[in-house]
Amino acid sequence: MQKIRATITAIGKYAPERILNNFDLEKMVDTTDAWIRSRTGISERHIAAKGEASSDMASSAFRDLQRRFDVDPKEIDAIVVATITPDMFFPSTAALIQQNIGAINAWGFDISAACSGFVYAMVIATQFVESGRYQKVLVVGSDTMSTITDYTNRDNCVLFGDAASVVLVEPTEDDEHGVIDYLMKMDGSGKDFLYMAGGGSRNPASHETIDKGMHYIYQEGKSVFKFAVSKMAEISVEVLERNALTGADVGLFIPHQANKRIIDACVSRLKLKDKQVMINIDKYANTTAATIPLGIVDGYDQGRLKKGDLLLISAFGGGFTWGSMLIRWSL
Ligand code: UT7
Repeated sequence: MQKIRATITAIGKYAPERILNNFDLEKMVDTTDAWIRSRTGISERHIAAKGEASSDMASSAFRDLQRRFDVDPKEIDAIVVATITPDMFFPSTAALIQQNIGAINAWGFDISAACSGFVYAMVIATQFVESGRYQKVLVVGSDTMSTITDYTNRDNCVLFGDAASVVLVEPTEDDEHGVIDYLMKMDGSGKDFLYMAGGGSRNPASHETIDKGMHYIYQEGKSVFKFAVSKMAEISVEVLERNALTGADVGLFIPHQANKRIIDACVSRLKLKDKQVMINIDKYANTTAATIPLGIVDGYDQGRLKKGDLLLISAFGGGFTWGSMLIRWSL
């Protein structure tokens, strides 16, 4: 029996209207536009409106997908949401999106894999489709990072932004296109370097957790940087090599956008040319689960992702988690 292949058949994105640029941040904390641009590559980031949550942004991204592609929400079988900023612990963001977009026949759930969330969610959707059980799986990357960012802490507040992006995964009969392979990894010793300690079962929300700022992201930037640089490059090379491919075969590389210096290191290890690499960190900063699908939509809109191109996506994030996927683009 021929193996069913999964492929991306529709895409959409959303970034909130409000923009916070580096000069705005200069007025909020002891930082400079020059430091932020040279150390991270970021110039500006979008910030959600008050009360605008991850399910709202994801629903807006889905409406963008509907403007571009003819997709009936009633036909969606499942919704897999990658987020570390769910609207609330429960119900899931997937349930809230289901109701917002009218996907009345879908079931779904959220997954927590921080910045690797989109790649993890793509693996789940791919498995669902390849099993033959589901035909239309909506994969969502949505993070409202501004809600867990301490805007008095210059170490972190310059790094993050808010956005959502969605892709639809469906079976394809054509075996030339679609998901080719993926590799996923995790190392729980990373828990000490990147986390949000407050509000969970370890440290339930209390006056003390709030006073100590435990509801904000904690990151040891330098340690995370070292891991990210080596692991994201290693896994990208590994997934290419085990498919007898090299950097030269890649049409577009869309890495997680946490720091331009991490991307540059990965690009030089893969020996890629600038035109093979999607970089949009300057405009959005680190939007966690949304960075890669945003890159997919921007790459597609800019005509840099064409049918038949080999797409390589790679991410590294909290956990630590990391992963890579190879897709022969079919849109
Ligand atoms: O997305 C999930 C995974 N996350 C990542 O991949 C992020 C990985 N880490 C990074 O991207 C980088 O480590 C950062 C961008 C977070 C920091 O860059 P860095 O080159 O590692 O800087 P640093 O933390 O070593 O700080 C260098 C200096 C320090 O001053 P001293 O000690 O040398 O006097 C910091 O206090 O820069 C200072 N600094 C700042 N200065 C101006 C830190 N933040 C700022 C700031 N503005 N916003």
